[in-house]
Amino acid sequence: MSDIAIIGAGYVGVPLAYTFAKEGRSVLLVERQPERVEQLNRGESYVEDVPSEALSELVDKGLVRATTDYDELREVEAILIALPTPLSAQREPDLDIVLGATRDIAARLQKGQLIVLESTTYPGTTRERLKPVLEESGLTAGEDFHLAFSPERVDPGREDWTTKTTPKVVGGLTEECTRRAVELYSSALDTVLPLSSPEAAELTKLLENIFRSVNIALVNELAQLCDRMGLDIWEVVDAAATKPFGFMRFEPGPGLGGHCLPVDPFYLSWKARQYDFYTEFIELAGKVNANMPYFCRSLISQALNHGRELSLKGSKVLILGVSYKADVQDTRESPALKLIELLRNAGANVAYHDPHVPELPQYGLSSVPLAPADHDCVAIVTAHGTIDYDRVVEDAHLVIDLRNATNSNGRIDGKVWKL
Ligand SMILES: NC(=O)c1ccc[n+]([C@@H]2O[C@H](COP(=O)([O-])OP(=O)(O)OC[C@H]3O[C@@H](n4cnc5c(N)ncnc54)[C@H](O)[C@@H]3O)[C@@H](O)[C@H]2O)c1
Repeated sequence: MSDIAIIGAGYVGVPLAYTFAKEGRSVLLVERQPERVEQLNRGESYVEDVPSEALSELVDKGLVRATTDYDELREVEAILIALPTPLSAQREPDLDIVLGATRDIAARLQKGQLIVLESTTYPGTTRERLKPVLEESGLTAGEDFHLAFSPERVDPGREDWTTKTTPKVVGGLTEECTRRAVELYSSALDTVLPLSSPEAAELTKLLENIFRSVNIALVNELAQLCDRMGLDIWEVVDAAATKPFGFMRFEPGPGLGGHCLPVDPFYLSWKARQYDFYTEFIELAGKVNANMPYFCRSLISQALNHGRELSLKGSKVLILGVSYKADVQDTRESPALKLIELLRNAGANVAYHDPHVPELPQYGLSSVPLAPADHDCVAIVTAHGTIDYDRVVEDAHLVIDLRNATNSNGRIDGKVWKL
């Protein structure tokens, strides 16, 4: 019997399970994909932040176990939901996965259990959407069982802050719900901060993501202006970052990627419309960031034109790095994918190299060996730490550096063109 169940063994669920288990709590991961369940029960981790060696020790001790069977939920003290919250085709919140799982939980809900939603979502989800479904069990939230929201703040690939050391905010439906959730997380995490409501906790997470999205959009807009003014945006960002107060460094790039930043802010703009309110910063940031792959395509085209007297049509372009950020394997919403599509539509012959991503089946592509000279140009889209960029510049005919990964001076430095 486990203490805690976590629904969804993904980028959030696995590190969370690992963190609780390392502190001696026994955790059951409830996961839909049987292959993932088998892998976890063999002690094999498919999430970069959790090393297989450490996971298998915890599996051997019986502290981590995975299952596809929701019936086991009857036995646990707390159920944490770490499931995807995507956008629908109309770019509206799609809570089907979370609400489907909530129905499965409701069918097995026991008196005294604590349910916490960790998935990023709009303010009101826990109270307006989860509570009624859970109460179909015949039990009442805040009386018979406890309900709270506590956003996950994991940043895959980051080593200085972990699930254990990153402060966790918690907002329960009632004071007792908050107290129970704080008690649970405090058994494994260093700092837990109670808030007054689930809505405050839901909006906290969105503020964090929107803050990043808006600031990235700001430097992306300035990068486009710098292109016209003949200035080097990276020099300007580096210089501004020398100010010890009142400035926070954000970097331009080929666009937003990952499961969070391109998606989550729109959960709030959707909810805001219910209050006759338009979240203009979110929309504007979305527009600027979504335009970056288009801007980068034209930069590649210009570089081929002026640098090599070639047109994009028919040119061989090597995309270096396709995951959404450095040193991870996740390609969800990666701007590299959009760029591949745009370059192909323009008639370019696109190949890619990424040590973390062996295949891109949706494009019929596999990672090719890194041989820059075999291509008309190399576009550095995601700058993994393991690549020798001096070597890439040495070997390539032309480099378009969208991440300031090369040691080049100025926007155009010999065969290097920078964003
Ligand atoms: N990935 C991040 O960096 C990150 C950071 C903070 C917050 N979040 C939020 O956390 C939530 C989860 O994201 P994630 O990146 O871990 O997702 P993920 O896709 O990596 O993992 C979700 C897992 O849930 C499983 N699953 C789907 N439906 C299921 C069901 N009905 N029952 C059991 N398992 C099911 C999937 O097979 C998958 O293994 C999202 O709301 C996301 O926005 C993610």
